[in-house]
This record gives sequence, C-alpha cells and structure tokens, in this order.
Amino acid sequence: MKVPLGCGVVLFSAASFAFPTSLLKGDISDDALAEITALAAKISHEAEAKRNFGRVKRAFDAGSQSVKTTGEHAYIAPGPNDLRGPCPGLNTLANHGYISRTGVDSVVTITTASNEVFGMGLDLAAFLSVYSGVMAGDIATVSIGGKPKSGLLGGLTSSLGLLGEAQGLSASHNRFEADASPTRADLYKTGNPVSLDLAQFEQLVAMPKGPNGYDLTVMHPFRGARFNNSVATNGRFFAGPFTQFAVNTATYLFTYHLFANFSAEHPDGYLDLETLKSFEGVKGEPGSFQWEHGCERIPDNWHRRPIGDDYGLVSFTIDALGALKALPYMAVIGGNTGEPNTFTGVSVTDLTGGVFNAETLFQGNNLMCFAFQTISAAGPDILRGLLGNALAAIGKLTDALNPVLATLDCPQLVKYDAALLKAFPGAGSGL
Ligand code: HEM
Repeated sequence: MKVPLGCGVVLFSAASFAFPTSLLKGDISDDALAEITALAAKISHEAEAKRNFGRVKRAFDAGSQSVKTTGEHAYIAPGPNDLRGPCPGLNTLANHGYISRTGVDSVVTITTASNEVFGMGLDLAAFLSVYSGVMAGDIATVSIGGKPKSGLLGGLTSSLGLLGEAQGLSASHNRFEADASPTRADLYKTGNPVSLDLAQFEQLVAMPKGPNGYDLTVMHPFRGARFNNSVATNGRFFAGPFTQFAVNTATYLFTYHLFANFSAEHPDGYLDLETLKSFEGVKGEPGSFQWEHGCERIPDNWHRRPIGDDYGLVSFTIDALGALKALPYMAVIGGNTGEPNTFTGVSVTDLTGGVFNAETLFQGNNLMCFAFQTISAAGPDILRGLLGNALAAIGKLTDALNPVLATLDCPQLVKYDAALLKAFPGAGSGL
C-alpha cells in the first residue's frame, strides 16, 4: 500500500523521547506566529505552482540573481560570542547578516535566508530548518554552532529542546552532523567535525575539474573517496539511513548546486576554486591553504541560481538517487564495529520488515522515502497539537510540507528495527 509521507504528525510520530515539561508552557509572540503562517502559505503556494507548471528553467538575469554583500549585508567576521558551526552555508549567512550574526536564529529566518541568498527551495530549507530546530534547538530557534552561553534562544520561553538542553548543530552528531562529510573530519577521528579539515579540502581541490568546475562529476567520486577513507580510518564510522542517504548526500550536492556562480556563459552554474574557497572560508593556494574560523564569505559579484529555479526537495530527491547510482557500493546502511575496515552492513530488508530491500531502494523515490521515514519511526514526537501555539505554529510549516512530501508516494513503513543499529559503537542514537 502506498501512503503519503506526512512531515507533521506522521513524520515525527513515535514518541520515543520524553517532552521536557517546560515545553508545555512554550509560547511565541503573535509576530512570530504571523511570520510562520506567512511562510507556510508561501511554501504551499510554490508547491502548487510547481505542480501546475513543473520545473522551469530560467535564463540568466544578472539583476535578480545578484546577491547583496554591502551595507547591512557586508561581511563581518564573527565576534568572540558569535557562534559558527559545521555548515558553511549557514556560517556564510550569519557572516553577512542574512541570519543573526550571533549564529542563533529562528527556523523561519534560516529558511527564508537560505532561499533568498542561495536559491535553496523553501520546502527543502524549511525541512532542514525545522529538523534542526527539533534535533538541536528549542524547536522554533536553533544555534548554527555550539550551545549558546546564556541559555537559549528566544523562540520558546524554555531553554530546553525536545532532546534536553539544546546543544546547537555542532553537537548534533548522527542526527544531523554526520561522518564522511566533504570538508569536515569525522567526530571520532579528530574530535572536531566542525572546523574545515585542510587535508580534505586539498583532496577536493586536487580532483580533476568537470565541465562546470567542481560540479557533480567531481563531487560523486570525491564522495566515494571520502566514504572509503572513513571506513579505512574511523573505527566508529557510522552511516545511518537518514544521515547517509539524506544528509551526507545533501552536503556534496549543495556544494555544487548552491555555491556555484551563475552567469550568461554558465547558466547552469560554474564552481571555480576562488568561489569555493570564499564560501568555505579558505585562503591561500593549493599546498598552503589556510582556514580560519568565521571567514566564510559570499564572493563579490557572485550570482545565485535563477529566481524560480530553486533547488528544492524534488530536485534533491532526483539527484540523491543519481548520486547513489554513480556510487552503488555506497547504498548501504551500517558502520565499522570498533576498528577501521570493519564495515558491516545492516540488511535494509531486516531494518524495514521487508518494505524496502537493496534492490527496491533504487526504485522510484524509495531512497528518500526510507531516509525520511527513519525520522518518522525513530524521531521525537513534536506535533501532538496539544503543546501550545509554538508547536502549533511549527505544525503549520510541516503541514505545508506534507503535500510536497506526499508527491514522493512512499510505501508504508510498518516496522523499523532501530535495535539493529546498536551493533555500531559510533551510532549512538543516530538516525
Ligand atoms: C536550511 C538550513 C540548513 C541547515 C539546518 C544545515 C545544516 C547543516 C549541517 C548540520 C551540516 C553538517 C553535515 C555534516 O556533518 O556532514 C551541513 C553541512 C553543509 N551544508 Fe548546510 N544547512 C542548511 C542550509 C545550507 C545552505 C543554505 C547551504 C548552502 C550552500 C548549505 C551547505 C552545506 C554544505 C556545503 C555542507 C557540507 C560541509 C562540508 O564540506 O563538510 N547548507 N549543513
């Protein structure tokens, strides 16, 4: 039986985490509620437009694709109390004041800024932001780096998130921050999955460039090499259904699709070394690159994706499948069992009670269905509709995402045996 994959009650359904009681008192201002309602309406409207008109390829238009880097959006390095984390996209947004320069902001602002500056689809940006609010923030607000010094966050009156005190994205290992990232090292390898790792960056830069610079023809083999490296060097390497198929895939796809510079000559975007260095906060030349905390920056004269050709959930789902078709050996869930080179796969058939198997994972939208349904099966229950208007407000956002996710037409996942992942010492309560 095929059922729509809901992002609200369904997506975050099983109540495997306790609610901090202070959340029950959670409330947000009328202004914030109005903002969320407007954003939800915009997502619904765009989804409707896409259903009616499909994906529209637009000609380059310098005026509308140019991104402001002056005045209130000038680059300013973060101060000592400002937080930055593992996502170069969000760090860049904070360094230019598109989200709060403190590094702590609402899921609404993070969603709209990701869309405005990088052309990430509102649906995808809302999904990532809400997910980060739940997993690493206080639902309505999140730190893009570590834990804020003076409590959280302002979204709710509480400083507690669903999983206890909100730790920020930097400490979201295996829920969001994951192994085998493009430029960040594995947590259990260096202890620092947040800073850019220069050796990894050198390795990326040394790859032979594709027709559009550091494009997907580069990112796919680079990702394969990074995966193999993690298996060979990190005894606690873990690849979960959500982190491996959705998060890890996204990091490689975003690097090209969202950092590339668009022009009349390159209407599909070209990612050259200078642009990549700027967004990743790297200075210097190959062989002597330097990276300093907080230097991620929009290059002057950079042009984003065309307005109306945002990189949203549908494009991402198609590309994610393409990425794993390019690297079929990576279509696995599992991890090392304590020592390097002990990678042991978990049977997708066993994990899902036979709903998916290694073959059907590649059919239709099953790959993303499986990744998203993992959250549904093992994530916290955020939306019972009983917990004050803060949660109801986020419910509006996830309601708006439901029809988008429903187009994936997912088979129903009746069983998810998370206990199978306990065999991996690096898994923790990973997804
Ligand atoms: C919308 C909200 C977003 C959230 C919550 C988010 C969160 C994250 C997190 C937690 C990571 C670390 C993943 C890992 O360890 O592999 C990450 C990585 C990454 N993100 Fe974001 N992100 C968001 C938006 C963006 C945007 C707008 C861009 C624009 C380019 C972006 C580009 C990237 C890239 C390229 C990486 C990989 C970093 C690396 O090289 O290792 N993200 N993001």
